[in-house]
Amino acid sequence: MAQLPPGPRYPRPLQTVGWVFRIGPFLERCRQRYGDTFTLKIAQEGTWVMLSDPEDVRKVFTGDPKVLHAGEGNAVLKPVLGDHSVLLLDEAAHMQQRKLLLPPFHGERMQRYGDVMREIAEREIDGWPTGQPFKLWPRMQAVTLEVIMRAVFGVEEGAQLDRLRRVLQHTLEWATKPAQMFLMAAVGPERLSDMPRFRRALEPLDRELFGLIRARRDDPGLEEKVDILSLLLLARDEADGSPMSDQELRDELMTLLVAGHETTATSLSWALERLVRHPDKMDRLREGDDAYVDAVAKETLRLRPVIPIVVRRLTEPFEVGGYTLPAGVTVAPCIYLVHRRADVYPDPYAFRPERFLEQPAGTYTWIPFGGGVRRCIGGSFAVFEMKTVLAAIASRVSLTPADAESERVVRRAITLTPSRGAEVLAA
Ligand code: HEM
Repeated sequence: MAQLPPGPRYPRPLQTVGWVFRIGPFLERCRQRYGDTFTLKIAQEGTWVMLSDPEDVRKVFTGDPKVLHAGEGNAVLKPVLGDHSVLLLDEAAHMQQRKLLLPPFHGERMQRYGDVMREIAEREIDGWPTGQPFKLWPRMQAVTLEVIMRAVFGVEEGAQLDRLRRVLQHTLEWATKPAQMFLMAAVGPERLSDMPRFRRALEPLDRELFGLIRARRDDPGLEEKVDILSLLLLARDEADGSPMSDQELRDELMTLLVAGHETTATSLSWALERLVRHPDKMDRLREGDDAYVDAVAKETLRLRPVIPIVVRRLTEPFEVGGYTLPAGVTVAPCIYLVHRRADVYPDPYAFRPERFLEQPAGTYTWIPFGGGVRRCIGGSFAVFEMKTVLAAIASRVSLTPADAESERVVRRAITLTPSRGAEVLAA
C-alpha cells in the first residue's frame, strides 16, 4: 500500500508558519527528527515530500517527465507569464519550448555578454556613495535589470532603453506588492487573467515587448545580432521548421525576466554579504584568478541558495526513498538541505569557496539551478554575470559591512534574501 514518509504532526497552518517565517531552522529540525525524507503540509500546496539524499534527488531529476510535472506547480504565474511560458508547460509542449530556448544560453556563448555586463557594473559602482551605509540589494536589482534589457532583450542605450526601464520598474513594483500577491492567491490565476484591472496593469509592458519583437523581426541586421531575443527570432522548431510566434516570444521574454532578474540580484547580494565578512576571501577574489571567482559564485549558491526547493507533482505513483508515493503528491528535492550535508560538504555552515577548488560541484549535490529536463536555462548566464559583477566590484571599490553581525535569511515572495538588504560601506 502506498504510504507517506513521517513528518510534523502539528496542523497545516503551523507548518506553513515555519516554512514561511523560519525556513532554515524549520527544515533542519525536520531533518534531525525524521531524516532525509519527510512529509510537509503547507497551505495551498497539497502534500510535499522533501528529499535530500543525493540518490533520491538523482531519481527525480532523471525520472520520466510524464510522471513528474513541474509546470503545474507554477500555474499561479500564468496571468503574468502567459500560456506559452516554458515554466508553466509540461511534457511535449514543455520540451518544444525548451529546445528553442536552450541554444542561446549555451555556456560557451556567455563570453559575448562580458563587455556589456562589465560596463553596466562599472557605471553602477562609480555611482555608489562613500562613507555612508547603503543597501546593495536594490543596486544589484538595477544591475541585473540592465543586463536583461541589454543582453537578453538586445536594447541599445538611448530613448527606447530609458522608456523600457521605466515601464519595467513600474510593472515589477506593481506585481510584487503584497496586495497583488493577495489578489493572485484569492481569485486564482484563471480569473485574474480575465480581470480588466489586471490586463490594464500589464498593457504598457506588453506594448513595449510586442513593439520590440516586431521591430527586431524586421531589422535587416538581425542575423549579426547576438542578444538572446535576436537568437530566438532566428530559432526554428525541430519538427516543422516554424519560427516562434510573437505571443510565444513575448511569454518567454517575460519568463526570462521574472526567472532571471531577482534571483541573480539576490545571489549577488548574498555573495557580497558573505565576502565583506570574510576579508581574506575578498582579497583573494581581487587577485582575479578565474577559478577562484568561479568558486566564490558556486559557494554562495551552495550556502545561500535563493530558491530552497524545486517541485515535481506526481501524475502516477512513484518510488523514491523507500516509499511508493501516490499520484497527486509533490516531490521536492530540497536544495537547502542537500547543500548542508556534512558528508558532502565538511563544515557545511562555513563560507569556504576553496572547497570548489578541491572538489567539483556534483550534479546531484550542488543543485541551486535544479536539474534534469527542468534545470534552469539561465544557470550559465547567471554564474557568468555573478563572476563578472563580483570581479568588477572587487577591483574598483573596498567594501565593509555596515554592521558586523551576519544578515539573516528572510523570505521575499519566493526568494530567500539577506534581512538588511546586504548593507555595506564603500571606500
Ligand atoms: C542565480 C540565479 C538563478 C537561480 C538560483 C535560478 C534557479 C532556478 C531554479 C531552481 C529553477 C527550477 C529548476 C527545476 O525545477 O529543476 C529555474 C528554472 C528556470 N530558470 Fe533560473 N535561476 C537563476 C537565473 C536565471 C536566469 C538568469 C534565467 C534567464 C535569463 C533563468 C531562466 C530560467 C528558466 C527559463 C527556467 C525554467 C526551465 C524549465 O522549466 O525548463 N534563470 N531557475
